[in-house]
Amino acid sequence: MGDSMFFEYTSDSHLRLLLRLDRGNAVKKVISRVILKNDRVLDAGTGLLSFMALQCGAGSVTAVDNANLPIAEKLAKENGWDNKITFINADLFDNDIPGIEGEYDVVLGFMYMNNIILDEERAQVVQRLANRYGKHDVKVIPNGIRYSAQLVEFPENDVLTYR
Ligand SMILES: C[S@@+](CC[C@H](N)C(=O)[O-])C[C@H]1O[C@@H](n2cnc3c(N)ncnc32)[C@H](O)[C@@H]1O
Repeated sequence: MGDSMFFEYTSDSHLRLLLRLDRGNAVKKVISRVILKNDRVLDAGTGLLSFMALQCGAGSVTAVDNANLPIAEKLAKENGWDNKITFINADLFDNDIPGIEGEYDVVLGFMYMNNIILDEERAQVVQRLANRYGKHDVKVIPNGIRYSAQLVEFPENDVLTYR
């Protein structure tokens, strides 16, 4: 069932991602380096990335998400990609996802929440998808996540030090 009780992806959160041009450009750069012509791509947590994969030469994309799929389907149609993308409405935490078939060259696993606790399990989900549905030389993007921490002072919440 996953951890959707903690966080919900709304069209607003997608819009904020779209406005992060630095992120979008960095992701496009790596996708264009990794994807080869006619690759089969599994997009786990979909959106713009399915379109990027097709622009970069992928032959087909299986796009799985459990939110906002009608918007993605509409955009795919408007951009002429609908005959190359199969959308599947499913929870990626499920063990069996009907519709994911055959073996994939590339797994796009951008289903992270930027939360170190929630993302550990999500990294395992992406790895499980790659092991189960990927070819022997499957490429996973991103192939790791890294967190950094910085000390800050937050007196309002630091009861022990400030009271
Ligand atoms: C960070 S967004 C990434 C969107 C897009 N792939 C991108 O990078 O621009 C994460 C996506 O994963 C989807 N997602 C998160 N958890 C999921 C789950 N358990 N099952 C299916 N989709 C999930 C969200 O609905 C959202 O569309």
